[in-house]
Amino acid sequence: MKEQLEHVKATYNHHNAVKKYVSDIDKIGLWESERIIFEKYIAKNSSIIDIGCGAGRTTFGLYELGYTNIVGMDLSENLIDNAIAIAKERGILIDFEKGNALQLKWQNCSFDNAFFSFNGIMHIPLIRNRIKAMNEIKRILKPKGRFIFTTHEDRDSVAAFKEFWLDYKKTWDEGKQDKRLLEYGDSIFIKDDLEHYIHFATKEEIMQTITEAGLNLTETMLRSEICDENERINAYSVDCRFWVVEKN
Ligand SMILES: C[S@@+](CC[C@H](N)C(=O)[O-])C[C@H]1O[C@@H](n2cnc3c(N)ncnc32)[C@H](O)[C@@H]1O
Repeated sequence: MKEQLEHVKATYNHHNAVKKYVSDIDKIGLWESERIIFEKYIAKNSSIIDIGCGAGRTTFGLYELGYTNIVGMDLSENLIDNAIAIAKERGILIDFEKGNALQLKWQNCSFDNAFFSFNGIMHIPLIRNRIKAMNEIKRILKPKGRFIFTTHEDRDSVAAFKEFWLDYKKTWDEGKQDKRLLEYGDSIFIKDDLEHYIHFATKEEIMQTITEAGLNLTETMLRSEICDENERINAYSVDCRFWVVEKN
């Protein structure tokens, strides 16, 4: 698991990733679906932690929308260094911190809301660790605090990937999968000349993660059900599923 976490960290520390995520701040910005979900559930004056914020695409986007009580944190030191430099350059007061969602430095009940955008939580290897991360997020949320995150759509229900998963199952059943993969559904794919380690889950598995972490589901919906994103966003990223969960 340590090796996979280091892999994720190295990917997002790489200059290709840094270049892409820095340019995404202005080129992509906040998705319309992210804006709609935030404005539906999150009060402007509430305190927010943007986990896995990268170079700050969502953090700066939310700040510009009026969510100014916001902290960004990420596993990648290089992305956070860039986020800090950009905030300074733009005269924006956002605290950006380096860290790991598996062990958050904040005290219990520190935030009203937490966000883990663009399927970032699925970079955490093994379901027990994703449950651990959700438990950590629950710990730093205040009672009734909300956690909003996204995942890829249920891996078994995306028609375009049916054949891929059939082949994958065969490879896995024969024990011929890449030995760096720890769990059925794990994948290492190449994007921007970088190897990305991520887990593709079923909807049931995400529900299990939420339940075992002791959080309650408020709403879940596909990005495409929330709104029609523009061509730029659709070309940039495939459809994903938003999850809105709450602490008791
Ligand atoms: C797909 S990128 C999204 C970045 C940013 N949220 C955006 O939308 O531009 C996923 C991010 O999650 C971060 N990440 C992955 N695992 C993490 C962990 N265990 N703790 C904190 N951040 C993590 C990565 O470093 C990366 O910046």
